[in-house]
Amino acid sequence: MEKMWAGRTSSQTAQIADDFNSSISVDKRMYRQDITGSIAHAQMLAAQGIIPAADADAIVDGLTGILADLESGKLTVDPTAEDIHMFVEQVLTERIGDAGKRLHTARSRNDQVALDLRLYLRAECETVSEKLKSLLAAIVQQAEEHADVIMPGYTHLQRAQPIRFAHHILAYAMMFTRDLGRLADAAKRMDFSPLGACALAGTTYPIDRQMTAQALGFSDVCRNSIDAVSDRDFCVELLSALSLIMTHLSRFSEEIILWSSSEFGYVTLDDAFTTGSSIMPQKKNSDMAELVRGKTGRVYGDLVGTLTMLKGLPLAYNKDMQEDKEAIFDAVDTVKMCLDVFTPMLVTMKLHPSLMYRSAQKGFINATDLADYLTKKGMPFRAAYKLTGQMVAWCIEHGTVLEDVPLATYREHSELFENDLYAAIDLKTCVETRTSEGGTGEASVAAQIEYVKGFL
Ligand code: ARG
Repeated sequence: MEKMWAGRTSSQTAQIADDFNSSISVDKRMYRQDITGSIAHAQMLAAQGIIPAADADAIVDGLTGILADLESGKLTVDPTAEDIHMFVEQVLTERIGDAGKRLHTARSRNDQVALDLRLYLRAECETVSEKLKSLLAAIVQQAEEHADVIMPGYTHLQRAQPIRFAHHILAYAMMFTRDLGRLADAAKRMDFSPLGACALAGTTYPIDRQMTAQALGFSDVCRNSIDAVSDRDFCVELLSALSLIMTHLSRFSEEIILWSSSEFGYVTLDDAFTTGSSIMPQKKNSDMAELVRGKTGRVYGDLVGTLTMLKGLPLAYNKDMQEDKEAIFDAVDTVKMCLDVFTPMLVTMKLHPSLMYRSAQKGFINATDLADYLTKKGMPFRAAYKLTGQMVAWCIEHGTVLEDVPLATYREHSELFENDLYAAIDLKTCVETRTSEGGTGEASVAAQIEYVKGFL
């Protein structure tokens, strides 16, 4: 078939070159955006007297028909076409004749593809945000259902201080609220229309870029036509937001994997979100969480690949940029899929509060509170810290825990110890007295839940 760009060259390209050059398998998913953009463009061309109104009408009808036929499956995308832009224009010309050949007036595939991609990704920012909100709702649900479940809080994966389970998972909710903000920022900065930049320098036709920008729902037009067709920072920005979402999902997944191991035993995942082993009958594996963690690397790869693709490109368009779509689509698809599986996995996760509590009781998790007890009785914190460390060492030597040491022994170490020390180092006291803003106390955690609900 003769290439649309035949003229300067014979268009007799090698089959292998055609296959290599073609992006249709990747960019066909932008057919709606391509057609919508073309309709706005044709209407603007007619309004500006650049093409006859009758031709614009024929183009709009033709494109509307193509869209309907693609949606219904009556028309399928030709896998041998160069890209979605060429395919749509080709079918249009086949269907309406010469009028179709006027569509590409005052336009280039360079501004066309930049437009399609911005339209496509703007909608995807919205979709991913909705999925993030469902995840936030799931976290809130688990936090409210288990408002008083106590578990060990960790640093260095060593038991550190007792915390509410709700407090722990709300930490992730906070990360996801910031992810929502990053998606909104990315969407806002890509909300400028590149259409009318043409190949790179603008055009001699009296086009109205504001008209197409408005018709397509953009807040404004890109100010510089060279920038409009040559940067892909909007892809990088979204990829970076998506990478952080994956970072957060991956850390959460890692914890769920640990928690559901026999060593921890804090949670049990629903059978619907686990798998068995082909050889070990006892196994129940947290494959979904592991895959989310595993797929995080892909999304980082998409980000780094796109940054690397861009870094050496002279202005303006270069074919290297065709690689942007495979990366950003993969990242968007991956994040959506991960959120779709992670959220129901989290909602159906069962907790084992007594095991969590028991873990919090071991490991001298209340040592800070013992030091604070002495400090509140007048001992300088550093001295109290040291003395408590000696008490811990004494316990380890005698195979006991701080709660079970007799008062007489405590008093051998310091006269400041009195009977009220046992209440002060009780796990529940340790949790409930951390009333500082953002802490693990009841009112603070309730306030965090309310804050997250504000995003729903
Ligand atoms: N398929 C191309 C891409 O995705 C469309 C733009 C082609 N422009 C060009 N000057 N060859 O980048």
